[in-house]
Amino acid sequence: MAMIDPYGSRLYKDYEKVMKDFGLEQLPDLPEENRLMRRGVVFASRDLKPVVKAMEERKPFYVLTGIMPTSERIHLGNKMVVENVAYFQKHGAQTYILVADLEAATARGVSLEEAKKRAMDFHIPSYIALGLDPKKTTFYFQSENSNVINFAYEAAKKITLNEFKAVYGSADPGRIMAAVTQVGDILFPQFEERMPGVIPVGIDQDPHIRLTRDVVNRMKDRKFFSPAAIYNKFTPSLDGELKMSKSRPHTCIELPDDPKKVCKKIMRALTGGRESVEVQRKKGGIPEDCMIFELYKQHLIEDDKELQKIHDDCKAGKLLCGEDKQHCCELMERYMKKLKKDIEAARKNVDKLNFIRF
Ligand code: TRP
Repeated sequence: MAMIDPYGSRLYKDYEKVMKDFGLEQLPDLPEENRLMRRGVVFASRDLKPVVKAMEERKPFYVLTGIMPTSERIHLGNKMVVENVAYFQKHGAQTYILVADLEAATARGVSLEEAKKRAMDFHIPSYIALGLDPKKTTFYFQSENSNVINFAYEAAKKITLNEFKAVYGSADPGRIMAAVTQVGDILFPQFEERMPGVIPVGIDQDPHIRLTRDVVNRMKDRKFFSPAAIYNKFTPSLDGELKMSKSRPHTCIELPDDPKKVCKKIMRALTGGRESVEVQRKKGGIPEDCMIFELYKQHLIEDDKELQKIHDDCKAGKLLCGEDKQHCCELMERYMKKLKKDIEAARKNVDKLNFIRF
């Protein structure tokens, strides 16, 4: 049986380049890797060894991410981040989720009230529906965390404008405020006790990781651990572009999405099919070029054998695109229905969450 090439996507060259350009490392061996890690969707890491060591020795370490409450939708990239948070949580990490209400205010013009309401009504229930254990998670709002804000002022003193431009490409004041606040977020779990921590991100969030690591280096006397990170690939757009974008709605799947609409989008997706049924029966399809296969691999099929069978049947010309799209539709519809139900259920318990109040 041919193994599924973890980089078996037409987009792999982009990620090889990203790793070189940003100086990222391969993912070290991890115990009981999740679907994303096993399949190379988590494609790189930074400084993860101290985290792995803490995991193995059952010493304290943490995992943290932030919620950006700009709209009542999340995307498949958020889903991957939550799944990776849940992985480390399961393996003993102290878990922190913050609501980036200050960032939403300064970078997107969302009021603090709106941001908070949205986070409680939608984002946090969604994160729980996606696998986060609320009982083992500590939450806070940026706007309430004066420790983070005070630290952001200190961090600001360690960064020059030129450096900021080099990391972010631009440097408008709102962005700077949000970025130094995020440095505070990333180090917050260490304010009480120094320990390694990992921030699971999409590659677009790497500037924050690098900036935080630079700040830590310039505060040597504070003895913070530099944050580690793991990086997931993007879920490609259904037309084959590197990343889904809301600006092209018919190629972008949101969470939750209307099951019927999702199906329509899937039916129009780019596949690795051939010019005719006859040719495809003879030569087989190309799963590496297929957005449907990418959806299975990243999101819809948990069982490796089941995924491998689809891969092999496609390559052998046994499984054709029409039938395969129908299958994908069914899985996606089922997924969306369940997700909606799980979000509703989680929403009922938001008053019991462990929020730090300052
Ligand atoms: N900037 C992140 C976003 O746009 C949100 C965020 C704020 C965050 N603080 C964080 C993410 C700390 C990871 C870690 O989604």
